Amino acid sequence: MMPDATNAERSRRFYDELGIIEWDRMTRSVASRVSMELHRRMLARFITPGARVLEIGAGPGRFTIELAGLGATVVVSDISPVQLELNERMVAEAGAESSVEDRFVLDVADLSAIPDVSFDAVVAFGGPLSYAFEAAEAALGDCLRVTRPGGCVLASVMSLVGSLRYHLAAVAEEMSLFGAEVFDTMVRTGEQRHTPHQCRMFRWSEIADMVNRLPCELEVASASNAISSGDPEALDSFERDTDRWQRLLTWEEELTKEPGTLDAGTHILFAVRRASA
Ligand SMILES: C[S@@+](CC[C@H](N)C(=O)[O-])C[C@H]1O[C@@H](n2cnc3c(N)ncnc32)[C@H](O)[C@@H]1O
Repeated sequence: MMPDATNAERSRRFYDELGIIEWDRMTRSVASRVSMELHRRMLARFITPGARVLEIGAGPGRFTIELAGLGATVVVSDISPVQLELNERMVAEAGAESSVEDRFVLDVADLSAIPDVSFDAVVAFGGPLSYAFEAAEAALGDCLRVTRPGGCVLASVMSLVGSLRYHLAAVAEEMSLFGAEVFDTMVRTGEQRHTPHQCRMFRWSEIADMVNRLPCELEVASASNAISSGDPEALDSFERDTDRWQRLLTWEEELTKEPGTLDAGTHILFAVRRASA
């Protein structure tokens, strides 16, 4: 019998096959464009010109290009060679390749090849820690290890509560295919194991507990799309009006930091600062 693929092998296969479709993830709907903006605002807040940044799970490079625009030097990494090739292409097309210092395959759950204190910041947006499953805390700890004291790790992970709410119709359909117990297990563990897109979704309390156990301080946390995952037509009407759009983004940014909201988005976005030596 073939041994089960590891988490990293499964993710690599999934994202190799997904290919260029991943490029549209942050732009294909109004809600995803809100999420893009929240992630961009977090980068703008924590990344200073000249910073040397390790980007983990960089995918085709939306945020590599943002980091370059902020004046950072980026070491680009991903588990998927196909995503790395796309990253090279999209970053070059955006005229940002001169900001990339290196580009290589890296598993967020194994940063052993990277020396301590190598970077001013680490960015792991769009769920790399969600693909580390039970190794997520060790992986976040390793992201801190390779960051200089006082530097930040910025991450977003899939959110259990908000994703269940957002995808409830799909869950209802899939219960007929996979059985209800699969979803009881998913709710209990946060692990989505019944589709090719295997990942771990987090409760906010789990992130808070991890952060409390690691040598870092929480700088900020928010729930991406907690306000803006509702009526697509209403969202459209906001986006068509520049003034209303900016207001919606600011409401989303502010209100999704409320403790009662942190579980309500499709992703939990957070920044932690490594404790000073
Ligand atoms: C949803 S995409 C996010 C891409 C990009 N960071 C963004 O936010 O647009 C997740 C990325 O994480 C990568 N990934 C999955 N598992 C990983 C792992 N164990 N280590 C590093 N990267 C991983 C995937 O190949 C994919 O490019």
